[in-house]
Amino acid sequence: MNVLDTLKKTSHNQMPEIYKTLSVERMEQRVKDIKERFGTRLFIPAHHYQKDEVVQFADATGDSLQLAQISAENKDAEYVVFCGVHFMAETADILTDESQKVILPDMRAGCSMADMADIEQTERAWGILEQTFGDTVLPLTYVNSTAAIKAFVGKNGGATVTSSNAKEMVSWAFTQKQRILFLPDQHLGRNTAYELGVPLDQMAVWNPYTDSFEYEGAIEDIKVILWKGHCSVHENFTVKNIEQVREEHPDMNVLVHPECSREVVSFSDYAGSTKYIIDMIDQAPIGSKWAIGTEMNLVKRLIDTHPDKQIVSLNPHMCPCLTMNRIDLPHLLWTLEELDKGNVINQIIVDKQISSQANLALDRMLNRSI
Ligand code: 13P
Ligand code: SF4
Repeated sequence: MNVLDTLKKTSHNQMPEIYKTLSVERMEQRVKDIKERFGTRLFIPAHHYQKDEVVQFADATGDSLQLAQISAENKDAEYVVFCGVHFMAETADILTDESQKVILPDMRAGCSMADMADIEQTERAWGILEQTFGDTVLPLTYVNSTAAIKAFVGKNGGATVTSSNAKEMVSWAFTQKQRILFLPDQHLGRNTAYELGVPLDQMAVWNPYTDSFEYEGAIEDIKVILWKGHCSVHENFTVKNIEQVREEHPDMNVLVHPECSREVVSFSDYAGSTKYIIDMIDQAPIGSKWAIGTEMNLVKRLIDTHPDKQIVSLNPHMCPCLTMNRIDLPHLLWTLEELDKGNVINQIIVDKQISSQANLALDRMLNRSI
């Protein structure tokens, strides 16, 4: 179910206005008290792109892969209050036990990239790909996708990938089939396949609105079919930004996320997942200079926690991911206070059949990732 469908079903769950009037100190104290009362019955994971006001209460932070691994391992928590976006909470629901309840503090926290591939479009595309290529295509989906897309991939023998393990998963896919269909982020798919040696002229873009390829070569040469989706945050980093940084600071390292375009990744010095970016900055020498191309909440946190290094956003006009930002202290407190009263609100429940098929895709990934 995509975020719009979920919202239609849960429109009565609006945060009461009162939460907008409370002081930060009061809200922080209440969250602390509830966390203490619940102990290990409550678990709060948070993605690295979340705001500091939320991250301060996280029991674990991570990139998408780490959060999936953590969800699969945690069997103690009765309630998982997920500070991230909708597809991450769905993944957590799929990977946790049936008795565990996953809650998203604000149901409007979707992901525009995940919504760029819907299941009807994907089934239609698959029919055409089967007619064109026979049984030679394996579907892979970035975890930034709906549970229905993960289920489609799982039932067709494929797997999920994250930006941390995309290379490993694409290599595995080519041991299974001659070609891959990579959903829904064309940039992660293109960057990964290119690094593994697939030439750009063997990659075609699939346009789900025209049900056709955007490709100029001979159809039988296609090895990678890239779904025409992208991240609306990372597409705002450009080659021009890199040129500007290099002109002003010739000794600055450019470090970007692989959701950026091929051009941006190839012009940069380093590219990797949010965990890779964090580790790189942690290990960087004192005094080193970095222009980072990823979500702004994370870049700000890196600037604050590494005052001994010079860190800037690669795009000086960058904003945070708006949907990640919907999870804030008032929404976190609201959901926790409702839990404290015995009301489970904003629960993410993935349909059983979808969940078991999506689990196949997630399992194939988790079994291959450290
Ligand atoms: P990672 O957590 O895999 O780096 O992905 C970044 C992202 O865009 C999550 O929405
Ligand atoms: Fe989606 Fe991009 Fe926001 Fe991640 S950063 S949640 S991919 S829109």
